[in-house]
Amino acid sequence: MFPVHRPRRLRKNETIRRMVRETSLSPDDFIYPLFVTFGKSVRKEISSMPGCFQESVDKIVKHAKEVYSLGIPSVMLFGIPEHKDEIGSNAYDEHGVVQNAINAIKDAVPELVVITDVCMCEYTSHGHCGIIKDGDVQNDPTLELLSKEAVSHAKAGADMVAPSDMMDGRVEAIRFALDEEGFSEIPIMSYAAKYASAFYGPFREAAESTPQFGDRRSYQMDPANRREALKEVALDIEEGADIVMVKPALAYLDIISDVRDAFDVPVAAYNVSGEYSLVKAAGRLGWIDEKRVMMEILTSIKRAGADVILTYFAKEAAKILNK
Ligand code: PBG
Repeated sequence: MFPVHRPRRLRKNETIRRMVRETSLSPDDFIYPLFVTFGKSVRKEISSMPGCFQESVDKIVKHAKEVYSLGIPSVMLFGIPEHKDEIGSNAYDEHGVVQNAINAIKDAVPELVVITDVCMCEYTSHGHCGIIKDGDVQNDPTLELLSKEAVSHAKAGADMVAPSDMMDGRVEAIRFALDEEGFSEIPIMSYAAKYASAFYGPFREAAESTPQFGDRRSYQMDPANRREALKEVALDIEEGADIVMVKPALAYLDIISDVRDAFDVPVAAYNVSGEYSLVKAAGRLGWIDEKRVMMEILTSIKRAGADVILTYFAKEAAKILNK
């Protein structure tokens, strides 16, 4: 009888679809980003990222408990310091916002894996990811600051550090610095293939880290490049990265897939702020079914090959998955 092949046989009802489903999501897959700011009892919604907040340490602790209770194993911390300067000194201050937050979270929810974003842009007055000379970020002098920052996070109790600056050689520099200070067991998740993307727009409002001049194209990758991502990832693994990240996620699913195929280490993908804001905005306008679009996007990132997904949707998605 024509036709012999009827793929619809396996789509007949939800039970059979469940049986042959190739990709499944779990709260275990997620890392939830948190924005720590100075002060007390601060919980300020980020206007371009509805449902996301800048929070002081006391509020972050409560939030971290909620995240863990939803089955999400990990958070990623970003700091918004009270004072910014040319060399981002708050980044490696032992009493800096992130250092205080790590301490407090590890006290309250010791099982939660606390990862820190290691970068200078949130702490520098010019908003760039390192030391500036002659209008550009200086690579090697920046490595020293990043190493100091990573060590200070480890001293405060961070479980993992995640350099996001895209300086050459930073993974190796940070690995050496951590080992030297007795933190050889702390893993590094590197933002290995990080593109110079307009999708970071809302984050820069959240972290108050918009560059005051120029852009990040002299250190972040050109969105047009695919082969170069494999080179960046290979270098980071060689330098000691334990997990490698592709960022952004949605417009870069081909990169996630390439990296998954080429390497055996866990692959993370960052479903970035702009990807979140687009869905939230269209959802508010009633133009899309926000929850379904969210789950479809997260599933596609996993299907492309990501083992770990950093996403502002983590809590909402976990609530659906826990039902
Ligand atoms: C810091 C950093 C950025 C993001 C994560 N770490 C911003 C940037 O590089 O400009 C973006 C995250 C997001 O958009 O959700 N360098």
